[in-house]
Amino acid sequence: MVYSNFNLKPLNSFGLNSTAKTLISIDNEDDLLYIDEDYLRTRNLILGGGSNTIFVNDFFDGNIILIRNKGISIIEEDDDFVILDAYSGEVWNDVVNFCAERNWWGVENLAAVPGNVGAVAVQNIGAYGQELKDSFLECLTYNPINKVWKTYQNKDLDFGYRYSIFKYQKSIEIIWKVRLKLSKIKVINDSYSAIKDKIKEDNINISSPMQMCQLVTQIRNAKLPNPKLLGNCGSFFKNPIVHNSHFELLKKDYPSIPSFDSEKGEKLAAAWLIEQCGWKGRRVGNVGMHDKQALIMVNYGNAKGEEILCLAQDIVESVINKFNVKLEKEVHIIL
Ligand code: EPU
Repeated sequence: MVYSNFNLKPLNSFGLNSTAKTLISIDNEDDLLYIDEDYLRTRNLILGGGSNTIFVNDFFDGNIILIRNKGISIIEEDDDFVILDAYSGEVWNDVVNFCAERNWWGVENLAAVPGNVGAVAVQNIGAYGQELKDSFLECLTYNPINKVWKTYQNKDLDFGYRYSIFKYQKSIEIIWKVRLKLSKIKVINDSYSAIKDKIKEDNINISSPMQMCQLVTQIRNAKLPNPKLLGNCGSFFKNPIVHNSHFELLKKDYPSIPSFDSEKGEKLAAAWLIEQCGWKGRRVGNVGMHDKQALIMVNYGNAKGEEILCLAQDIVESVINKFNVKLEKEVHIIL
């Protein structure tokens, strides 16, 4: 279906009132034919669950390609593993539950991450010690410009922290479905401190992926705002990675600075840096940083694009001034 002047408010979790000139809803393969030459000459944006996209203008002068194809199917299984395909329009958490209900391990720590399947591959979602790349086998894409279908293997996507080759792509290539490999053999990932602490606190013994899903969901619900109640896009910035020598200097001045080892250097907690600069729980007009998680910008109701950009800029500047660290946005800002 093709719609004109489509209000995007229900399609973005930040809850911004923006209108798209046109929107093409892709529910099945036949709908791909709607993306014809006329649309390909205009500005196009692929949209999934809208949980990481911020429309800062009232009007998007282009075409939104809304991916809504559904389905989960088992491709192959043996006693140890199962391989499944999930179509991009599936809600990610439904896929996590589908796996957990069947006792398959591999994505349970990614429970309750908002968004749809297509987007999880775009930015290699990660939470509580697990990343999509650990269970991702391949994905199938469709390019409406040359009408070519293509399969990318895990190694082709150059996965990194909140990164894959699709993250900053200029052309429009639609991720159609994602193939995952899950384990039937118990593999508990309890390395993340918040999980360790909660297991100890509740005195529980994790024996099923569903138990882990529930535990992670409880941790998330305790500090992350529900976008249905308070508009937000999860983490607004990425956790910055600094050179070890820079980290040593910071550690001298701030001995309690949280950090995590990473392949590229020392990863800092952006939430901590933002909190230290006094932004946690602070409201500026219709936007602010959440009072339980300083990394999350929230929309108190009628946020304007300008307010979002100004607050983000003020935070970036104050973190540079105090720590000489430049925060990069994790959310996708649409100008
Ligand atoms: N912290 C603060 N102040 C706060 C919140 C946290 O100082 O207000 C400190 C904590 O004490 C902790 C550290 O920051 O030492 C890390 O906090 P947390 O465990 O909450 O994780 P995060 O680094 O802020 C990342 C992801 C989240 C993911 C969690 C759990 C990024 C950008 N964000 O947040 O992902 O759920 O880890 O794994 O990497 C998202 O991408 O939208 C998202 C929510």
